[in-house]
Amino acid sequence: MTEPVIRAAHATLGYEGIPVVQSLEFEIPAGSRVGILGPNGGGKTTLFRALTGEIPPLSGQLEVNATSATVAQTDRSRLDFPVSALDVATMGSLARLPWWKRPGRAERRRARQALEEVGLEDLANHTFGDLSGGQRQRVLIARALTAEAELLLMDEPFTGLDTANEQRLEALIDRLATAGRTVMIATHEVEQAERWDLVLCLNGEQISFGDPAAAISKPVLEATYGGHIVEIPGQPDLGVLPAHHHHHDPGDDR
Ligand SMILES: Nc1ncnc2c1ncn2[C@@H]1O[C@H](COP(=O)(O)OP(=O)(O)OP(=O)(O)O)[C@@H](O)[C@H]1O
Ligand SMILES: [Mg+2]
Repeated sequence: MTEPVIRAAHATLGYEGIPVVQSLEFEIPAGSRVGILGPNGGGKTTLFRALTGEIPPLSGQLEVNATSATVAQTDRSRLDFPVSALDVATMGSLARLPWWKRPGRAERRRARQALEEVGLEDLANHTFGDLSGGQRQRVLIARALTAEAELLLMDEPFTGLDTANEQRLEALIDRLATAGRTVMIATHEVEQAERWDLVLCLNGEQISFGDPAAAISKPVLEATYGGHIVEIPGQPDLGVLPAHHHHHDPGDDR
């Protein structure tokens, strides 16, 4: 058996000695599509930070046997300085180049190809900060592709995408995994995670891990989302889904 891309053993993650996700225990083989489910504050982004080495585990082990690139959770901030979508996508190559080299023609060609893969070839020369949130998200995905990392960490990459681009991104994730890359995707959509190879449910600790058919159940979803659950119409067996609490701003309730 080949060694797993990621191996967590009794790992606890947190900040300044205070745990936020405990009991991480899983192995992820290369070429897997892994959905990460959890409520707001459940620890999804924290896990990604630990996988890139940004924060060391508080205890236990978290081994990553791959180069990684992250598509960060979108914020609404815009870059004020005038860089193009192509410039941002090209920045992905910095991870691969020796420190004394600047991206050249080959890197820009690779970045253009990555923009094509996310359907943004026509916007390559547009200013990044002028793009819509969904378009900026796709440029960040292109930047991660340009890095040619073996492990791609996508933190809620479907946020702000319309149906067409959601389908395009799902197809891209499938292609990446088929090509042997490992893709971890933090998401709030249970039904989406059910279509991938593995699922990891987090809520301050590991609730469940494995093949979605076995690892997702009503008690698992209840433990994962606590009280924030509603019935899925027509699916009495599963019966629960996270309520759409994620981007809900109580101030908008008028
Ligand atoms: N830099 C930090 N220092 C201290 N605590 C933090 C820090 N970043 C996050 N936390 C805490 O860690 C917990 C997990 O946060 P995390 O961002 O990993 O959740 P998440 O699952 O990504 O949530 P969301 O769905 O809202 O993105 C939260 O309680 C959060 O307040
Ligand atoms: Mg997060």
